Amino acid sequence: MLTGAEIRKRFLEYFEKKGHKVVESDLLVPRNDPTLLFTGAGMNQFKEQFMGKNVTYKRACSSQKCLRTGDLENVGRTPRHHTFFEMLGNFSFGDYFKKEAIAWAWEFMTGEMGIPGERLWVSVYKDDDEAFAIWRDEIKVPERKIVKLGEHDNFWPADAPSKGPNGPCGPCSEIFYDFGENTGCGKADCGPACDCGRFIEVWNLVFTQFDRQPDGSLPPLPARNIDTGMGLERITAVMQGVRTNFDTDLFIPLRAAIRRAIGREVRDEKLIADHIRAAVFAIADGVPPSNEKQGYVIRKLIRRAYLKSGMKAPFLYNMVPGVASMFKEIYPELDEKREHISSIVLDEEKRFSDTLRCAMPVFEEMAASCKGTLGGSEIFKLVDTYGLPIDIISEEAQARGMELDTETFDVLMEKQKEQSRKGSDISTDFIFKPDKFREAPKPSLSDVLPLEARIEFILRKESPSEEAAEGERVEVITSPQSSRFYAESGGQSGDKGAIEKTDGWMRILNTYETDGRKVYEAVVERGTFFKGDAVKLCLDREKNSDTAKNHTATHLLQAALRNVLGDHVKQSGSLVTDERLRFDFTHLKKMSERELSKVEEMVNMWVEEGVPVAKEVKD
Ligand code: SER
Repeated sequence: MLTGAEIRKRFLEYFEKKGHKVVESDLLVPRNDPTLLFTGAGMNQFKEQFMGKNVTYKRACSSQKCLRTGDLENVGRTPRHHTFFEMLGNFSFGDYFKKEAIAWAWEFMTGEMGIPGERLWVSVYKDDDEAFAIWRDEIKVPERKIVKLGEHDNFWPADAPSKGPNGPCGPCSEIFYDFGENTGCGKADCGPACDCGRFIEVWNLVFTQFDRQPDGSLPPLPARNIDTGMGLERITAVMQGVRTNFDTDLFIPLRAAIRRAIGREVRDEKLIADHIRAAVFAIADGVPPSNEKQGYVIRKLIRRAYLKSGMKAPFLYNMVPGVASMFKEIYPELDEKREHISSIVLDEEKRFSDTLRCAMPVFEEMAASCKGTLGGSEIFKLVDTYGLPIDIISEEAQARGMELDTETFDVLMEKQKEQSRKGSDISTDFIFKPDKFREAPKPSLSDVLPLEARIEFILRKESPSEEAAEGERVEVITSPQSSRFYAESGGQSGDKGAIEKTDGWMRILNTYETDGRKVYEAVVERGTFFKGDAVKLCLDREKNSDTAKNHTATHLLQAALRNVLGDHVKQSGSLVTDERLRFDFTHLKKMSERELSKVEEMVNMWVEEGVPVAKEVKD
């Protein structure tokens, strides 16, 4: 029997032999794409190459770590929903196209994997006669096993022709494994589109050939690409002859460890296995649990797994070494950081069990006296005062057949959140976005402050706009752009400030950079702003200098940690804002009180001494 690890290896070797460069998995949070919350597909890291930029090799293959959070309710309930999974893929950037992609996929399945051709069915997009003909005439798949489906199933992104997004897209062709006639619904017309479980989609071959325009037209891309994706867990299930991904060797040892730790069977064992895998990989990639963006997702996964286990004391952290060792060949970083990951998981479990200890009795009391619907202000109290996550409240309410007055709750929350809106517009979907600033110029830079500038570009509700009215949240590019505004990167938040004119002002909440353009995320506090307006750009020097100080402090902290604990201390993430800093680092044990105070003293000493900070501009 082939193991999951062997399948991954054979896939990469097969495509390497076909002239593909084996590319390492990108991090779970894409290195170069602020529009994505998590990496959700193999092609994410090749976004530029798909647009014809930076093409240094024309064929690539990878096993990509992915995280998708769209189907959270289904995880562990169905055979094949995951948050974390690995996607095997081969890619062509303006090189080979449909014919080779199809032939190699078939050869890999029937040759390398040894799956009998009779077991495989395929689907093509209804208008893609070219792909249909290749399957029928060259691969010799019987016509009745080539199913034509519409844009929802056989276009990527799904429904792109009618609904967008604009940008690269194309028809796709999927390969299905047939578990056999006697495994499904038995209907005469049962086929790959049927969801009875007889068929499982294993491989998606996307023929990226169009560049969708805002008017819905589909002109061809200058260079046609191939983007394929095959879930490692799925192909492993097929190869190991099991009906769910959770019964493959990619999960079995972990599930056994979970059962041992809990000491009995739990209904949500699969969910727990899924969530702990996701948390381990995410923390290794620099996303510890927090209240923001990606960190919030990880917090939620750890807490959900803990809650579903019914355990009264932390135990998930003990699963970390097991997960790390299952994947240490291909992802050695897990094993290297396992103590660190484990301590972060433990910390989160502790916090959460404290929260639960205080909040659950309050919740139970509210539930007992609320007559079927829990009021908005009660929910708000649970969330705000007791720190109980809303998802958990709603799951627990559902389990008791209660309704929630979420409308009132949302209003209360909204009020509360007014201050911290930043980041809320990061999307959770995983398709890549066409460049929002495609039509925006790239103005020259100036280091004068405050800066006299013109409004060059306004992005309102994700589209270019001529104006921005009071109360609206927009993204703005000015000409010239300011080199003095620090753009969000390396864990330091972007600078804040204001864009002013005689009859109005906007508050800059954040600055980020994309493709050589500084973009200000701003909210119009007064007046209306138009493209072309002459404005003054002011940097919030106080916040800027607080942020800079906190940034310097992270370096001091790192130096002190290395001094006290040793050179093995490496940064594995950080967050720097004007209010606080967080520094994640690798170390094999919990620090002792003594070590902590030594580090603290050292940092404070350097601060008090006023150790000089040198500034140098490098390219
Ligand atoms: N991008 C496609 C998918 O996610 C193929 O890799 O299915």
